Amino acid sequence: MKLNWAERWAVNNPVRVFEQRLEINALHRAAALRPGSTVLEIGAGRGAGAEIIIEKFKPSRLHLMDLDREMIIKARKRLAASDHPPVSSCVADVLRLPYNDAMFDAVFGFGVLHHVPDWRGGLAEIARVLRTGGCYFFEELYPSLYQNFITRHILLHPTENRFKSEDWKAALRQQNLKVVKTLEKKMLGILGAAVKE
Ligand SMILES: C[S@@+](CC[C@H](N)C(=O)[O-])C[C@H]1O[C@@H](n2cnc3c(N)ncnc32)[C@H](O)[C@@H]1O
Repeated sequence: MKLNWAERWAVNNPVRVFEQRLEINALHRAAALRPGSTVLEIGAGRGAGAEIIIEKFKPSRLHLMDLDREMIIKARKRLAASDHPPVSSCVADVLRLPYNDAMFDAVFGFGVLHHVPDWRGGLAEIARVLRTGGCYFFEELYPSLYQNFITRHILLHPTENRFKSEDWKAALRQQNLKVVKTLEKKMLGILGAAVKE
């Protein structure tokens, strides 16, 4: 599901970049990547997170994808600098990732799957494209944050089939994604890293 005006404003601003920098630093402390890694960011938005992923994790190749063409256009402009490692990007749905099985050493997803009605299907696709031993780095929000009595009138999210802490962790286990580190606030959401077994 694409973002409405309010969430576009919330993610396309410097406070979000600051928050992502703190989160990516924490994720880097949780699990580093081997040299020469090939990395995917799903729901990459305007590419601000991708810049920080490049800086901290130093992948050799980075693929970005998002459902929203406008976001991908912004990301391409942002990442046009020649001193980055090769970055490719496409407009696609996380439910049908246009990548081969076991193609990535890591997949990053910041605030994406809670926008997807069939979020378990998205998780299955992430597990499919990760190699065994590869790492899924995630930041996800719970409905108590984005569908409370105030936010449900401002933000636009799917209303059915929402996940909370236990649903999310069970779905990770079902995809053989073993959590190695999480920082969780049960009323807000979860930041973490999970390795594909
Ligand atoms: C809350 S924004 C987060 C953007 C960026 N990752 C960030 O943290 O600033 C969620 C992003 O996921 C994208 N998105 C939503 N549903 C998607 C889907 N089914 N497949 C791929 N991307 C999706 C939206 O277009 C949006 O760019």
